[in-house]
Amino acid sequence: MAGIEPIADLVIHGGEVVTSAARFPASIAIRNGKIAAIGAPETMPPAAETLDATGLAILPGGIDVHVHFRDPGYTHKEDWASGTTAAAFGGVTTVFDMPNTIPTVATPEILAAKHAIAAEKAYVDYGLYAVLGEESLAHVEALAEGGVIGFKLYMGNTFGRIPSPDTGAMLELFERVAPTGLRVSLHAETNSIMERRERRLREAGRNDPLAHVESRPAVVAVEAVERAATLAEWTGARIHILHISSKEELRPLAEAKARGVDITGETGPHYLMLSTDDYERFKGVIRVNPPVREANCQEPLWQALKDGTIDMIATDHAPHTPEEKTRPVIWNCDCGFPGVEMQMPLMLTAVAEGRLDLCDYVRLSSEAPAKSFGLYPQKGAIIPGADADLAIFDLGQKWAIDDAEIHSLSRISPWDGRKVQGRLKHTLVRGAFVVRDETLVGSRGHGRSVHAIQHMPTPEPRNADKTMAAVTAKRS
Ligand code: DOR
Ligand code: ZN
Repeated sequence: MAGIEPIADLVIHGGEVVTSAARFPASIAIRNGKIAAIGAPETMPPAAETLDATGLAILPGGIDVHVHFRDPGYTHKEDWASGTTAAAFGGVTTVFDMPNTIPTVATPEILAAKHAIAAEKAYVDYGLYAVLGEESLAHVEALAEGGVIGFKLYMGNTFGRIPSPDTGAMLELFERVAPTGLRVSLHAETNSIMERRERRLREAGRNDPLAHVESRPAVVAVEAVERAATLAEWTGARIHILHISSKEELRPLAEAKARGVDITGETGPHYLMLSTDDYERFKGVIRVNPPVREANCQEPLWQALKDGTIDMIATDHAPHTPEEKTRPVIWNCDCGFPGVEMQMPLMLTAVAEGRLDLCDYVRLSSEAPAKSFGLYPQKGAIIPGADADLAIFDLGQKWAIDDAEIHSLSRISPWDGRKVQGRLKHTLVRGAFVVRDETLVGSRGHGRSVHAIQHMPTPEPRNADKTMAAVTAKRS
């Protein structure tokens, strides 16, 4: 190309492009952070730089709508730099961070402070959740204006012990959110059931790992999904069911979808690949909310991913230190474990084993999250005009996960030692390499909040004449 002015910043040759619809050999030209062209090598414009991706698969970067990066407040567990580095090494180019940091993201001021921290440290793009509870009721509109990707409502207690709004408060909160059009992501576990059972189990002297599962049987989640769907249907609020763990939750989810409720759902690799058989071995390390369940939940969850009842894969990346995960009494072990870096290799292994189609996986890891949260097609697609957010994998390479080598600060997980197939080689975020040849080359602060590009469909509030605001404004 000597003497010809480069038009593209980068052209990637030789790879196999994978979309939700097809996989095909093609070159990709990138300019100003966007995909400029996809096609035969000879049709590509002259480029400042080229990458040889021969033998590699080019996937849209993963969009993990559920991570806990702990910053501010618990930076001994994770911070925005370590968390987004882990994401980049996992092929994940956008993350949505949960609001159970300190202080809880409940006001526009706290949100702005968190935005500043993330903007300074992030290597990949991100969205921030605000909490939806009594403490944020008066701030819903201001939080929406302050730039959130959605709201998080804790129907049950988990790490951080954020108070759970009762059903009356939930209805009012949904009424408040519905006109914003933003999605409410739900930790759908009913607090009163599990708190009572935990108390009884403790009184009975049960401190063993399986007591955790027995304190939160699937009915805890089923009851919550059903109730949330009822309130969403009444108010028109859009909802998302986080970490679907059981086969039993699929019925209320599918029924709500059939009734036309705008409801989406996610599950994670731990619910698909681990079971109650693993508690003896991992003890507190496997403790997570909701719990990893009986092995007979796995197949229905896989089926739900294939048939679209569950919309997406997310990790609930929940880092804690080894000391916090290995206390002798199960109730004292912090809940959750890292996952943002392992999700794509774990799921690509399932693809290699024939459990899931590769194109379906792209839908679950990237396209559906982008569509559900209003980022599509700027995110979640390999098409001209989209952000060049790419995860480039060697789908044939076999390796074993080693907790000592992961990039999260939390180097303790139930994935340690697990054999996987599919190794991340390069990650690009808006056309810039963040990981190149398995090495971090990105810059701190490259990541941007995606709220600015978010376009949710027009809000469709229902029963607006009966909301708390409407009826208390009436005069007799
Ligand atoms: O196990 C969990 N850990 N589940 C959650 O819902 C929260 C998370 C955390 O923040 O540690
Ligand atoms: Zn979570």
